[in-house]
Amino acid sequence: MSRAGVMDRTLKATAAEPEQAPPGRDTIAGEGLQSPQTDFAKLAERAISRRRLLGVGVSAFVTGSMPLAPFPARAGSRMRFEPVAATTLDTVTVPKGYSWHVVASWGDPLWSSAPAFDPQTRGTGASQELAMGDNIDGMALFSRDGRYVLAVNNEYANQAILHGNRASKKPETADDVRKSKAAHGITVVEIAQKGGRWSIVKDSPYNRRITADTPMAIAGPARGHDLLKTAADSAGTTANGTFNNCGCGRTPWGTYLTCEENFDDYFSSSDPGLAPSAALKRYGVGHTSRNAWATADARFDIAKHPNEPNRFGYVVEVDPLAPNATPAKRTALGRFKHENAEVALAADRRVVVYMGDDERGEFLYRFVSNGRYAAGGGNGDLLDAGRLYVARFHDGGKGEWIELTPAAAGMASQAEVCIHTRLAASTVGATTMDRPEWVAVNPNKPEAYCCLTNNTDRGVKPNAGGDATPVGGPNPRKANPYGQIVRWRPDGGDHAAPRFDWDLFVVAGNPAVHGDSLAGSRNVTKDNMFNGPDGLAFDPNGLLWIQTDGDYGDRKDFAGQGNNQMLVGDPATGDIRRFMVGPKQCEVTGFAWSPDRKALFVGIQHPGERGNGRFPGGGDTVPRSSIVAITKDDGGPVV
Ligand code: FEO
Ligand code: CA
Ligand code: CA
Repeated sequence: MSRAGVMDRTLKATAAEPEQAPPGRDTIAGEGLQSPQTDFAKLAERAISRRRLLGVGVSAFVTGSMPLAPFPARAGSRMRFEPVAATTLDTVTVPKGYSWHVVASWGDPLWSSAPAFDPQTRGTGASQELAMGDNIDGMALFSRDGRYVLAVNNEYANQAILHGNRASKKPETADDVRKSKAAHGITVVEIAQKGGRWSIVKDSPYNRRITADTPMAIAGPARGHDLLKTAADSAGTTANGTFNNCGCGRTPWGTYLTCEENFDDYFSSSDPGLAPSAALKRYGVGHTSRNAWATADARFDIAKHPNEPNRFGYVVEVDPLAPNATPAKRTALGRFKHENAEVALAADRRVVVYMGDDERGEFLYRFVSNGRYAAGGGNGDLLDAGRLYVARFHDGGKGEWIELTPAAAGMASQAEVCIHTRLAASTVGATTMDRPEWVAVNPNKPEAYCCLTNNTDRGVKPNAGGDATPVGGPNPRKANPYGQIVRWRPDGGDHAAPRFDWDLFVVAGNPAVHGDSLAGSRNVTKDNMFNGPDGLAFDPNGLLWIQTDGDYGDRKDFAGQGNNQMLVGDPATGDIRRFMVGPKQCEVTGFAWSPDRKALFVGIQHPGERGNGRFPGGGDTVPRSSIVAITKDDGGPVV
């Protein structure tokens, strides 16, 4: 891009934000958006000061226009904790005055009839079906009558750890596959606090395992479509199981949304000559699978059951307080590699769901229900009928939502749009993104944030659908190694509005290594730097919690950044502080708060995934994904 082109591009910025809205302000209430101004002078000033400091050129910084959020001069911080330093310790590190403990780990039994976790065998199919699943991800806490029920995603299984009892480190028997399928899905578990420590309530009537074999309904426009008909279900109205459940959401009517992400790596073909359809290829479904479930369950063999993959890639609604309720795949929310499902209400109380598709160069989506949320009931089908949109970002800080209709997508029906959503979004010219992960909606003002975790293909190659991935807009860096967080403010403060203003809340980087755009935005320092923003959620005070799933090598581009971590950002000031560092080789993902905010539950996923890490047991124990609770030593709220 020419220099002139860069200068023509408005470096999107909005004026300093108003102070936090008064407590109790509804998420849907509109707040006047401030008039735009350019932040270019500040960018240039910072670049020049870095050049002076580091003695390096700034051409990459200047030519990569970054529409950064302008923040006011630092005021008093709302974050009253001492930030922790980056570290590579094989433990959880929290600020002074805070403590943590393990609530539950992969393999912990939910019922007293089940055996304790066996590190030699790593469990069996039968024991795993009665125990906490593997690789904790999104979670939400529900309460009723003074009891607390945690719904937890169990995203995937690390083959070498789950099958570490096998010489091959792979599934070798049908029971190994049964164990693997049971390690996936969702764990619903009652937890209770005793003496300041939270733990599993065994035999609770709320305890439930939902796995890759649990019967569920297919709901919404795609229900009954030919593409969903299989040998097991000629009506196309049911599915067996859910897996690769990544991020989550919760509805105002008290249900849990679990999001099916990388469903492709469970399918394989017994016919090496099979040519997968273009649609299957767009979703990554091919001949081989690390999970190898087809070795024991033919429905995962696309040569025999070509429509089975079409029953995965959805948002699934679960009622954690109704253990016998059948989960429902809400196809109206589209089929892609769903990260999370962040729910907001439009001004007229229609339900809005923001959703990212986490793959390089894929898209950001929004669903708006036809019906309106009504407190007190009658909301069960709200996610089955509505309009599905995909985001198009324009330079200059403007953006719009493009509706995915059959006409726009060139498809025969809305059902097809909801099954082949990626293809529909490509047809309408959506903006290819740097891997959209979690979306979080500010509870105090009408704005939403999304982690764009990284994208080594940005400006290098197209996405899997052949869509170009030009550098620019909310994806400002070629081969983006660090990621950024984009935010948008819907027109009129209404999450159902057709257009929005956007800017970048933070552009991650490493100012200890780089002096150009790879140093990151000005709210990134040597003391708070990170890479791979992924999990994202607001706390009840309106602070933004950021979890990372990045490069934990602590060297080269990532020198000084240590293990994956959790930080807190202030949307009003841009201030970001590191609150927690996870153990070696983990990803920090998933949040839940106790209602009194005295416990923050956090997921530690794949600790020691490459063999160098033994969290939480230490020594020569098997590393186990775990939920930890963080508490404050003075017994007060965590923040
Ligand atoms: Fe499961 Fe995109 O993280
Ligand atoms: Ca994630
Ligand atoms: Ca990730």
